Amino acid sequence: KYNLSTSLLGKEIVYFDSIGSTNDYAKEIAKDVKEGTIIIAEEQVKGRGRMGKYWHSIKGDGIWVSIILKPDIYPYEASFITQIAGASIVKGLKKLGVDSLIKWPNDIIINNKKVSGILTELGAEIDRINYVVVGIGMNVKTIDFPENVKSMATSIRKEGYNLERIDILKEILEEFERLYSNYIENKDKTECIEICKQNSAIIGKYVYVLKGDEKRKVKCIDITENGNLVIINDNNVKEELISGEVSIRGD
Ligand code: BTN
Repeated sequence: KYNLSTSLLGKEIVYFDSIGSTNDYAKEIAKDVKEGTIIIAEEQVKGRGRMGKYWHSIKGDGIWVSIILKPDIYPYEASFITQIAGASIVKGLKKLGVDSLIKWPNDIIINNKKVSGILTELGAEIDRINYVVVGIGMNVKTIDFPENVKSMATSIRKEGYNLERIDILKEILEEFERLYSNYIENKDKTECIEICKQNSAIIGKYVYVLKGDEKRKVKCIDITENGNLVIINDNNVKEELISGEVSIRGD
């Protein structure tokens, strides 16, 4: 009923009017479903963001979706999947005429405000992956945000675009499928990394890197072929940061 043109992603779709979190549900069923199964909900009452934060997911306001993948890669390689998601979101939006940027590793921003976030979670053993759940949240129709996020959040509609959630989701899934197959089947990461670099909100800029209680001001200079962020640290030394370990602040 969604008329998706993808052959892997969304072949099986589990749809909820209301759910706790599509990521939680995806993790529960991951073992028993095919790769590419997606969970979509109109509303999440326990939507989760990174770092244990709450993710505001009001009914009908946005895209709240989780994609279940079963890539034959090592757990340490899985952070690349987040880069694929980011690249797919930016490229998908661009196809619909919306310019956005990636705030590495997992935020998509428009006019310096967050419009979309990615929460990648793994079911893994020490040296193998059982599944990867890629959760994507995008504020599409949202007009009012809670007070605590108001100044930092935006939606597709607030930025002046009248787009339907399904049209955006289709574009994202198409891009995702292409980049993901290229990675898995051909071990080709170049297009994804090109998109991440060309649409980076932070390359060339100074940012704060938060890791535990530590806060450092660094300059971002590049993204590696594995999706790591290259920075010049406070001692003027080059360093590579792996997504999942750090959080980035503009000021
Ligand atoms: C972040 O920016 O912190 C990540 C936000 C991820 C939100 C999505 S919405 C669908 C999926 N289910 C969840 O509970 N979270 C992700």
